Amino acid sequence: MGQKAIGILTSGGDCPGLNAAIRGVGKATRGTYGNQIIGFRDGFRGLVENRIIRLDNAALSGILTLGGTILGTSRDKPHKMPVGSQTMDMVDVAVDNYHKHHLDTLVIMGGNGTQKNAYRLMERGLSIITLPKTIDNDVWGTDVTFGFDTAMSIAAEAIDRLHTTAESHHRIIVVEIMGHRVGWLALGAGIAGGADVILIPEIPYDIDSVADAVLSRSRAGKRFSIIAMAEGALSTKERAALGDDEEEERDELGAETASVRLARQLQEITGLEARVTALGHLQRGGTPSPYDRLLATRLGTTCAELIEEGESGVMVAIRRHKCKAVSLKKVAGRLKNVKPDHPWVQSARLVGTSFGD
Ligand code: F6P
Repeated sequence: MGQKAIGILTSGGDCPGLNAAIRGVGKATRGTYGNQIIGFRDGFRGLVENRIIRLDNAALSGILTLGGTILGTSRDKPHKMPVGSQTMDMVDVAVDNYHKHHLDTLVIMGGNGTQKNAYRLMERGLSIITLPKTIDNDVWGTDVTFGFDTAMSIAAEAIDRLHTTAESHHRIIVVEIMGHRVGWLALGAGIAGGADVILIPEIPYDIDSVADAVLSRSRAGKRFSIIAMAEGALSTKERAALGDDEEEERDELGAETASVRLARQLQEITGLEARVTALGHLQRGGTPSPYDRLLATRLGTTCAELIEEGESGVMVAIRRHKCKAVSLKKVAGRLKNVKPDHPWVQSARLVGTSFGD
């Protein structure tokens, strides 16, 4: 008891459930197992700059239902960190600071990119355990990430609310939902909210098919349509035009966002008025759902148990409702995207939802 020193940081975009996970790790490792725990502020930047916060009882109390992260976060990566006007490799400094605090394990909570950066530190000999957090649900190796359920509820509620105004004005409303590379959030919220069309990056759409879906609803007497669109969804033509450097090429599609472009084109083709609602960071804010609090607590406390068992180099995942340690090496650099024949897609098609393909 009381033997170990544990560090913890949150990296990448924040999400509801991070504080519940910090509390889960902290209360179990400190209260139950008697270890010391510190947090690094603002993700990997705090590790590099050695900015810490002691996670004592007071710091870990009253945070279960709090959105965001009490540690702060950033998208900074140790190997490519902006320092003044330069971008520098700060991995050595991060490793030194880990040793300076005599850490036995560093717990890193993050999404897809963070898992890769955590693995880089693991390759440098640090004892690392990660947790999968992100509203995008795109971390390979886990059935679900915490943050996803809350964001899906927020987006589904937005779709519910947009139905009445779309119907009153006989409009098309394109709801832009987060997800640059994966469409889990748009798909889940779209199904739950009964969107008429769901557009995701994994299934390129044809603008005429989307327009047909809207017009056939009009012919059937439904003079409004709701389109749930992931921010990274592209038409087949746009997808074909993208080369290897997708990020750069996407910029060349112009300043107009995908959802604004879609609304403009649909208005031209169908003659119906179209509007865009971009949900943006609303999807990441506020209180986590009970499901996310439960999931984050389970993953956090399992992480504390794994630390006690001397485990490292793993991500704590949830698989078939059970917490499981998955090799970080396997997780790093892999994206969990929506397979076009995924059961969610099939269900949506069976209730008449169009994917514009
Ligand atoms: O990774 C989570 C996420 O919310 C994505 O869905 C979204 O594309 C991105 O972050 C937005 O990033 P930022 O908050 O840095 O603008």
